[in-house]
Amino acid sequence: MSQEIVTRRITAPEIFGRKGGEPIVALTAYHANTARIVDNHADILLVGDSLGMVLYAMDSTLGVPLDLMIAHGRAVVRGSKRGLVVVDMPFGSYEESPAVAFRNAARIMAETGCGAVKLEGGVRMADTIRFLTERGIPVMAHVGLTPQSINTLGGFKTQGRDTALWPLIKADAQAVASAGAFAVVLEGIVEPLAAEISRESSIPTIGIGGSRECDGQILVLEDMLGYNPKPPRFVKVYGEVGNAIDAAVRSYADDVRSRTFPGDENVYPLK
Ligand code: KIV
Repeated sequence: MSQEIVTRRITAPEIFGRKGGEPIVALTAYHANTARIVDNHADILLVGDSLGMVLYAMDSTLGVPLDLMIAHGRAVVRGSKRGLVVVDMPFGSYEESPAVAFRNAARIMAETGCGAVKLEGGVRMADTIRFLTERGIPVMAHVGLTPQSINTLGGFKTQGRDTALWPLIKADAQAVASAGAFAVVLEGIVEPLAAEISRESSIPTIGIGGSRECDGQILVLEDMLGYNPKPPRFVKVYGEVGNAIDAAVRSYADDVRSRTFPGDENVYPLK
């Protein structure tokens, strides 16, 4: 008798429970095929709004529409079985008020089937995070270098170089934990500050260009695969996917030009 193996998805409370425990492996995924592969190894699959820059060649994440996040979120949920799928709330979909944030987060949850949403901001977003979590929407927070605020931050700049600003960044991390976020992304924060926040925070910290003392790490998949010609400096490149695609496409082009590709007779043999 065959036995069905039922795979259960990792939940937001399970990620919360990993504080100080086994490090959390997180990666971005934007579509079903990569989700299927990432899901074999990662605890969290983030459908990041970085897809605007990575897939659509936008200059920033500011122009990413909610419907696009929902379409990619649905694909990643369909392509995965085990990891917690977290979908980014795009710029303009949550800042106005907790009620607007709830309406859009509820759409994301209902239309994608994801397990949580992520939004950017610390102290200023705490009321919204509380509003969502009290109404059944798990929230992953994101503080430090928040790309949706590049115009007020003055660019993609590492946060905390000036130690006088450490209390503000710490207050952001503290506020999202108190508001009920199940984890917090620490992006672009100087190493000693990210380490200090990780030691002090009651929720898991997930670093990106952060510290090994974080409870986990997230990277943009295309950056670590060697698929981005100019990855950020802090990224360790684990694959040469860009070169592999280039070599495969070159072989294909050579086959076509020399008429050596498999002919139709192999694919559709005559009876
Ligand atoms: O949009 C994204 O991919 C992100 C990660 C880089 C954390 O927010």
